[in-house]
Amino acid sequence: MMQVWAVANQKGGVGKTTTAVTLAGLLAEVGYRVLLVDLDPHGSMTSYFRYDPDELEHSVYDLFEQVKVEQDQVRQLILDTSHDSIQLIPASTALATLERKAVAQEGMGLQVAKALRHLQADYDYVIMDSPPVLGVLMVNALAACNHLLVPVQTEFLALKGLERMVRTIEMINRARRNKLAYTIVPTFYDRRTQASVNSLRELHHHYADHVSNAVVPVDTKFRNASLKGLVPSSLDAGSRGVHAYARLLRTLLERRRQE
Ligand SMILES: Nc1ncnc2c1ncn2[C@@H]1O[C@H](COP(=O)(O)OP(=O)(O)OP(=O)(O)O)[C@@H](O)[C@H]1O
Ligand SMILES: [Mg+2]
Repeated sequence: MMQVWAVANQKGGVGKTTTAVTLAGLLAEVGYRVLLVDLDPHGSMTSYFRYDPDELEHSVYDLFEQVKVEQDQVRQLILDTSHDSIQLIPASTALATLERKAVAQEGMGLQVAKALRHLQADYDYVIMDSPPVLGVLMVNALAACNHLLVPVQTEFLALKGLERMVRTIEMINRARRNKLAYTIVPTFYDRRTQASVNSLRELHHHYADHVSNAVVPVDTKFRNASLKGLVPSSLDAGSRGVHAYARLLRTLLERRRQE
């Protein structure tokens, strides 16, 4: 069964795109076929792989032009990336207009889920990146996934933004048949700073069952990888940051075996 993960947090700059791209790289390296879906109108993941969200003829936006989603239409959205086993459904800047189109939002909450159903046989894992706003795109991501990853920057007031995200998850869960499970991923951790140490402790205190044991450290290699358009594990498989994501992945895969 194809697994679908969403990466979301209503706070910006917490490592969402990095989490999606790094996990995709690690999954691809163990032989899985991976599809990344960029649901952020800023298109950072699309730009990561050297596509211009202003110039693309087709993007995830196409899925919102009509309620019905055809298989051919979905297939023509798929682009190759720098990694053989990773493909991408890109975002385009047009996505930004979506939230304002009231008509588009009515009954458009399952467009991405419908599209992915057509790709069941083509991929082992789908990872979706989402914008830091609760709107039709994030709702689509949450409705389409079977596991949610919530990166949280370990800094002063980290919990503030997270509370909003957890309320959103609870709201979504009232509408879902099976509860959406989520994993909080502490990011930008620097054990020399009190803010990092304290916020990690608070995360464990308030969200014990949901916090990943893998903590992602501050690591400049992530930026270097994005500048080269490579998944971080292709640039430097031995970096501390990649190690942390590999550890996170092991627990996610382990969890799946137990389900
Ligand atoms: N653990 C880390 N250590 C150092 N730099 C990081 C780390 N994770 C991400 N970065 C860098 O920080 C910046 C923001 O990360 P990223 O784009 O993944 O966040 P985001 O949550 O997707 O942001 P946005 O809300 O704008 O979409 C990027 O330049 C990225 O390369
Ligand atoms: Mg992002």
